[in-house]
Amino acid sequence: MIILKSEDELRAMREAGRLTALTHAVVAAAVRPGITTASLDALAEEFIRDHSAIPAFKGYNGYPASICVSVNEEVVHGIPGARVLKDGDIVSIDIGVVLDGFYGDMARTYPVGEISREAEQLISVTETALKKGIAAAVVGNRVSDIGHAVQSYVEAHGMSVVRDFVGHGIGRQMHEDPQIPNFGRPGYGPRLKPGMVLAIEPMVNVGGWEVVVLSDNWTVVTADRSLSAHFEDTVAVTEGGPFILTQA
Ligand code: MF3
Ligand code: CO
Repeated sequence: MIILKSEDELRAMREAGRLTALTHAVVAAAVRPGITTASLDALAEEFIRDHSAIPAFKGYNGYPASICVSVNEEVVHGIPGARVLKDGDIVSIDIGVVLDGFYGDMARTYPVGEISREAEQLISVTETALKKGIAAAVVGNRVSDIGHAVQSYVEAHGMSVVRDFVGHGIGRQMHEDPQIPNFGRPGYGPRLKPGMVLAIEPMVNVGGWEVVVLSDNWTVVTADRSLSAHFEDTVAVTEGGPFILTQA
């Protein structure tokens, strides 16, 4: 069942989204060679709690940290720890908050120091793929139009989209209906209506789309160990067009 949000609920989700984006800005400013992924997690958790909110991921299905930090061939759900970021890495950071009962969910891939051309292109293609997906989140379109827009753009640039993980509706729960694959044919699935709120989150690999989960049971890596990037925004479908809630 897809839960439509009222104007008041959208205003509350805007604040959750704003705090998520502000947390990203704080963490992004700390990303540099030499920093541990655990210290990025600590920074995020402190900032979120200082703003009367809760890190959404902590304890979710037993997840042990506040944010996900996925480096290089890691796709999503990397667990922060003692790993030290180094020059040339790319780091995907996924942050969720709960503020006044509503969730915000946002991911970005950041460069660490000087990165390769391939890594730069991957980040740029994934960021634009998210924009293409968001642009398809308009009243009257169907859910699969979003994934189709993402997949066409990514594959036209010789990269691939992850199939095993998808975007989702979001609101008073982190994961609500509908699921939002980043691939597929246009014109299928539920029709988009005003008041729907969607977390659109393309995961893009330089190589093949296949992924595997490491023995920590969380970290998802590309099967061919090629680089991967992840961009996610929480977006409201409105009569006036898609509105990105996860911005400052
Ligand atoms: N953005 C991810 C999602 O939509 C975050 C979940 S990470 C977890 O599911 F650790 F909470 F599982
Ligand atoms: Co999400």
